[in-house]
Amino acid sequence: MGFGEVRPRRLRTTPAMRRLVSETSVEVRSLVLPMFVAEGLTEPRPIASMPGVVQHTRDSARKAVAEAAELGLGGVMLFGVPERKDATGSGALAEDGILNVAIRDARAEVGDALVVMSDLCLDEFTDHGHCGVLDQQGRVDNDATLEVYAAMALAQAQAGAHMVGPSGMMDGQVGVIRRALDGAGFTDTSVLAYAAKYASAFYGPFREAVSSSLQGDRRTYQQDPANGREALREVALDVAEGADVVMVKPAMGFLDVVASVRAAVDVPVAAYNISGEYSMVEAAAAKGWIDRDAAIAETLLSIRRAGADIVLTYWASEYAARLAR
Ligand code: PBG
Repeated sequence: MGFGEVRPRRLRTTPAMRRLVSETSVEVRSLVLPMFVAEGLTEPRPIASMPGVVQHTRDSARKAVAEAAELGLGGVMLFGVPERKDATGSGALAEDGILNVAIRDARAEVGDALVVMSDLCLDEFTDHGHCGVLDQQGRVDNDATLEVYAAMALAQAQAGAHMVGPSGMMDGQVGVIRRALDGAGFTDTSVLAYAAKYASAFYGPFREAVSSSLQGDRRTYQQDPANGREALREVALDVAEGADVVMVKPAMGFLDVVASVRAAVDVPVAAYNISGEYSMVEAAAAKGWIDRDAAIAETLLSIRRAGADIVLTYWASEYAARLAR
C-alpha cells in the first residue's frame, strides 16, 4: 500500500469526520484556574502585563471561585498577595494572612464542589522575592525553608485547602510537607508537587501579578531549561516522598518533559500554562497577529496531547464558558 491507496486526507474531509477521529480533547473538569487574591484591596486591580487577569479582592475572588464551580472546572489554584512582605515571609503562616483567608473564603463559597488548591511557596510573601528564607550569605537556605513550608502546609490545611502545591523547588519539600500534614491529622490533604519546575523567563508577568520584585534569579533552585532527564529524577523523588499529583511548569516550551513524565509515573500529571505563555497569546491577538480563540484552543489541546491530565490556565473559566455555549 502506498500513495493512491493510502490517503490520510480522507479522514479530514468534513467536520464530522474530523470530530470522529479526533484523538484528544480538553475537558472542563481537567482545567484549573490560578487566581491572585490581594490583601487590603477594595477594587479588583488589573494586571497590566496579563490583560484580562486581575488581583482579586476577597469579595471578587469568592465570586470567581463560585463561577469556576458553576462552570464545572476541576479546581482553583490560589495565590496570596500580602500588603506587607518581610524577610521570612511571615504572612504565609498567619491564620489571617491573605492566602489562608482566601482559602477559607473559597471553601465557604463552594465547599467540595471543586478542588481548592493553594500555592505553597514564600516568594509572594518575602521582601526579597525568593521562594525560601536566606542564610547569612544571602543564599536560599534549603533546610531552614523546609521548616517554614511545613508550617505553611498546616496553615493551609487548617484553612481548608484540599490540595497544597509546593512550588519552591526545595529538596525534600514534599516529604516534609507530607509528614507535617499526617502528623497533624491531615491525612486527606493532598499534595500537588511542582515537581519539574524550570527557571523560566516566561514567569515575567507573574512578578507583577504578585507584586514581587525578585532580587537575583531562581537558578539555584529551579531547573535549567536545558535539562530533560533531570525532570524525571525530580519527579521520581517527589512521588517517593508522597506527591499525589506531579506538575511540569512551564507547559508550552516543555511539552517533551510533560510527555516523558506522563510515561514515567502513574500518578496524575499536571502542567501549568504560565503567565508569559498567556501574555504572549494575548499580546499577539491584541495586535491582530493571531486568532485569539483558535490559539487558546490549540494551546490547551497541545498540553493535553503531550499527556497532561490536568491543565492550570488563566483561560480556564473563559474556555469552559466557551465549551458550554
Ligand atoms: C512560585 C510560583 C511562580 C509561579 C507559580 N508559582 C513564580 C516563580 O516560580 O518564579 C509562576 C506562575 C506563572 O508565571 O503563571 N510561587
